[in-house]
Amino acid sequence: MHGLAGRGKAAVDGDPHRVPAILAATVLVTTLPVLMGAVLVLAPKSPPAEHRFAAQAAAIGVSPVAIELGEANYRVACATCHGMDARGVPHLGKPLRNSAFVQDSSPEALFAMIKRGRAPGEAGNTTGVLMPPRGGRPDLSDADLSNIVAYVRSLQEPGQPTAAMDNWATPLAGPAAGVPSGPEAALFVSSCSACHGADGGGVEGLGKSLKDSVWAKGKSDDELLAFIKQGRPIWDAENTTGIDMPPKGGNPALTDEDLRNIIKHIRVLEGAEPAAAPGAAETGVLSGPGASLFVSSCSACHGVLGTGVEGLGKSLKDSAWAKSKRDDELLAFIKQGRPVWDAENTTGVDMPPKGGNPALADDDLRLIIGYIRRLQGQE
Ligand code: HEC
Ligand code: HEC
Ligand code: HEC
Repeated sequence: MHGLAGRGKAAVDGDPHRVPAILAATVLVTTLPVLMGAVLVLAPKSPPAEHRFAAQAAAIGVSPVAIELGEANYRVACATCHGMDARGVPHLGKPLRNSAFVQDSSPEALFAMIKRGRAPGEAGNTTGVLMPPRGGRPDLSDADLSNIVAYVRSLQEPGQPTAAMDNWATPLAGPAAGVPSGPEAALFVSSCSACHGADGGGVEGLGKSLKDSVWAKGKSDDELLAFIKQGRPIWDAENTTGIDMPPKGGNPALTDEDLRNIIKHIRVLEGAEPAAAPGAAETGVLSGPGASLFVSSCSACHGVLGTGVEGLGKSLKDSAWAKSKRDDELLAFIKQGRPVWDAENTTGVDMPPKGGNPALADDDLRLIIGYIRRLQGQE
């Protein structure tokens, strides 16, 4: 039988080029990797770009990417209370940069504390203000929190003194500081002062002086509003400092009305307008009970001062519906929410049960209702 295989074998056996071909192939197979290796080694190497968190990451033994992701989440979940620069915001969150607590805690203990929060009256709470579980953001996963822990740990500067709380409890831009109080001042302090200073005089390496800004003085209120909404990134030709001015100062919850109030306050700081005497109901409204809970759980949709956020939540300050309800009716409503399919829904947008924060207890919600009543001028 002359099968195909038999014929093939005979043909190969008889091939006069067989041995040289095998030899050539062997030489190639053994030398090619060496050649390629040599090309790689000898090729002019562009050094890998250093990650901007490389040094911090090496110092605390995490990946630079973890710090970077943590920074992004910190800005949306923690900065409202702890400041964009993590130096703390008076009456809201303590300083986390160069924090003795952070430095004395293991990463695991820090993670557990942030996950759990720290209620007023609880052991360890020094301010009487709530640190909400997960910063009030139940949507943050454990992985998100781990990255935030990495970021917060990266903010510790060896050799620097730990942050003091001296300025934390000063009255919100109170008369002692020579700065007018009232809701405009409170908004400015919570959203802009981290970079521009409580008195608008600027913070070295973060934000310019607004008090003395010829540029700002030359703009109309509308122009300033448009500017603040847009910010001025580093790559903008008009950027003068090489530092980002984030849109709305990094606080997307600020409504146009909030920003107009802030601009009013900037005008006061500029000395362009006499300080308006704040109404009793407005003074210190942000520092009273319920304010921080409202800020962390409701302000994303309803605005820090309850004036509503376009496309998200309604004004609570001016809500005739809410004003007409008793506290316990409002409590029941907030626990239940008002989904899009509810016949009473007026906006086509979900009001989630407890604003989407199942961790809120009835007592928390009562504090929040107290804050809403203050905004409505009913208390
Ligand atoms: C609504 C405001 C608020 C938000 C949002 C918030 N915190 Fe806090 N946080 C506080 C307050 C207030 C304290 C101080 C509690 C106390 O008196 O001990 C605090 C304390 C802390 C502490 C302990 C500091 C110390 O010196 O004892 C850490 C760490 C911390 N927060 C991390 C975070 C992180 C991370 C986030 C974001 C995921 C976050 N916080 C979001 C208000 C807030
Ligand atoms: C994270 C820091 C940061 C925060 C928070 C921040 N800014 Fe700024 N802002 C800057 C920086 C940096 C500049 C300067 C940008 C440049 O180089 O031109 C700036 C510039 C400005 C200017 C223009 C001043 C000038 O002379 O060019 C105005 C007005 C301003 N900010 C208003 C605000 C207001 C209002 C808020 C709060 C809603 C706010 N900023 C929050 C960092 C910040
Ligand atoms: C994710 C966005 C979102 C969050 C967070 C949120 N709300 Fe709302 N809320 C809404 C929307 C949207 C409506 C309007 C629903 C409708 O169309 O009737 C609403 C309506 C309300 C109303 C009724 C107002 C009226 O005039 O009908 C109250 C009161 C209220 N919210 C309180 C709260 C409180 C308190 C919190 C925090 C615990 C909170 N909300 C958090 C989106 C939100």
